[in-house]
This record gives sequence, C-alpha cells and structure tokens, in this order.
Amino acid sequence: MPLLEGKKALIFGVANHRSIAWAIAQSLAREGAQLVLTYQERMEKYVRDLAAKIPGTEVIPCDVQNDADLDSAFAKAGELLNGRLDILVHCVAFAPASELENPFLQTTREGFHTALDISAYSLVAMAKRAEPLMKEHGGSVLALTYMASERVMPKYNVMAVAKAALECSVRYLAYEMGEHNIRVNAISAGPLNTLAARGVSGLTGFREQVAHVSPLRRNIEQSEVGDTALFLSSDLSRAITGEIMFVDAGYNIMGA
Ligand SMILES: NC(=O)c1ccc[n+]([C@@H]2O[C@H](COP(=O)([O-])OP(=O)(O)OC[C@H]3O[C@@H](n4cnc5c(N)ncnc54)[C@H](O)[C@@H]3O)[C@@H](O)[C@H]2O)c1
Repeated sequence: MPLLEGKKALIFGVANHRSIAWAIAQSLAREGAQLVLTYQERMEKYVRDLAAKIPGTEVIPCDVQNDADLDSAFAKAGELLNGRLDILVHCVAFAPASELENPFLQTTREGFHTALDISAYSLVAMAKRAEPLMKEHGGSVLALTYMASERVMPKYNVMAVAKAALECSVRYLAYEMGEHNIRVNAISAGPLNTLAARGVSGLTGFREQVAHVSPLRRNIEQSEVGDTALFLSSDLSRAITGEIMFVDAGYNIMGA
C-alpha cells in the first residue's frame, strides 16, 4: 500500500519547477497523498501548470502576510479536503533584496520585520489554522530551514535570524501540538538553485564548496529533500517531532 494512501496535504511555497515545495509535492503524490497547493498571486500561472501534472491537485491563492488570506486558504482547503488535513508543508521565505546585499549591521527595522513575518511567523499562523483540521487524527507539520541559523553564512543576514526563529517555533509548536499527535519538524537543506536562493549572492561558489567538502562529495537535489519530507510526513517517522533534520550530504558535520 502506498505510504500516504488516504492522506491529505496542504503545501505552501510552490513558485516554479525548481521549488523545494514542488519536489515535496511530487514525493507526497507519488505515495498517494491528495494535494492542495497554495500560490502567491504573481506565481499563479506557473503553479496551475505544475498542479495540472498531478491529477486531482487543487490550487488556492494565499499571501502569508495577510491573516484574511490565511483564514480563507485554510477554510477553502478544509472544504476541498472534506474537513481533514494530515500534512502541512511550509516552504515560504522572503527578505527584501537590500537586506541580503547590505552588511548585516545595516539591517532595517522594516526589513527585519518583513523577513521574520513571512519566513517565521507564518509557520505559527499556519499551524494555528491547521490544528482544528488535524487534531482528531494527528498530523505532520513540516518547514524548511537552513544551517545559516546556527553558523554565519555571509550575506544570508536577516534571513538567518528568521531561520533561527523558525527553528525555535518548530520546537514550541511540537511541544504544544504533540498532545494531539501532531508532529512538527524541519528539514535543513543544503544549497539548491531556486528562485529564493538566487537572492543570496555567492550561492554558486557555496555549492562548489559543498560539493568539495561534504562527506558525500556532492550537492543535494530537490528530490532528496522531497523524499525526506515524505518520510517525515508518513507514519515511518511517527516518534520524531521537534527535530531539525539535515539533508545536506553531511556538510553540517564538517569542521574544516
Ligand atoms: N534553495 C535553498 O538553497 C534552500 C536551502 C535551505 C532552505 N531553503 C528554504 O526552502 C524554502 C523554499 O524555498 P525555495 O528555495 O524552494 O525557493 P522558492 O523561491 O521556490 O520558494 C519560496 C516560496 O516562498 C513564497 N513566498 C514568499 N513570500 C510569500 C508570501 N508573502 N506569501 C506566500 N508565499 C510567499 C514564494 O511564492 C515561493 O513559492 C524556503 O523556506 C527557503 O528558505 C532553501
């Protein structure tokens, strides 16, 4: 039997075919999950075209900075999925370009607020709305993070602060939602060439470094994050919660 037969998933963060969220969507669908994808308004065409490749997949708009949008996205997802949600995937991040170009010391109040709101608070906002749809039968909530939360990656700047807040939110949500058998985890992915990553200068050089230094002597692919998300969404990981799981060819263990 497919690992996710009968499971229903709501996925935030597909922008195009390179998106980590799209790789996750494909892994979850391969194992039988029914999907709803949300999209940011300007991405609608790309997301609709991708969704059409997985029969039965629905798409709904949502800007995660807007509470009314979040309310209506979860209400609509609840209708489309007959009041049941098993899997929530958060693959959303944004910081204004200037915050990733200027020195961290120049971080503005507004840029800090925007990055933390979109990239970290949104997980809490989503989890709150997912809980009523999950709590009768349990569920899995998953977010995407990056090692810059713990170690300095020049130019990642305020986005690193947002990832630290996201990871801490994962632990607090895991604690509170655990009583309903809702698990909350994050995947810390190695660098991938996506739309969001292109906003961070030096990505290509960093990918070369990872390929050279990591234990597996290579970079990762989106599909490898997708398959780890599948594991964390399925009953195979039923005792894992509050965890930050690296999918980075082992790069994080290296000291030199
Ligand atoms: N690419 C990498 O190297 C890498 C590594 C580790 C973690 N991540 C994380 O993976 C996640 C997905 O990013 P990606 O690399 O696939 O890039 P991506 O550009 O494909 O995805 C980012 C998504 O965030 C969405 N988004 C931004 N602001 C939004 C808003 N206000 N409302 C709704 N959606 C909004 C965009 O529409 C897009 O779909 C992010 O959390 C990112 O930080 C990426």
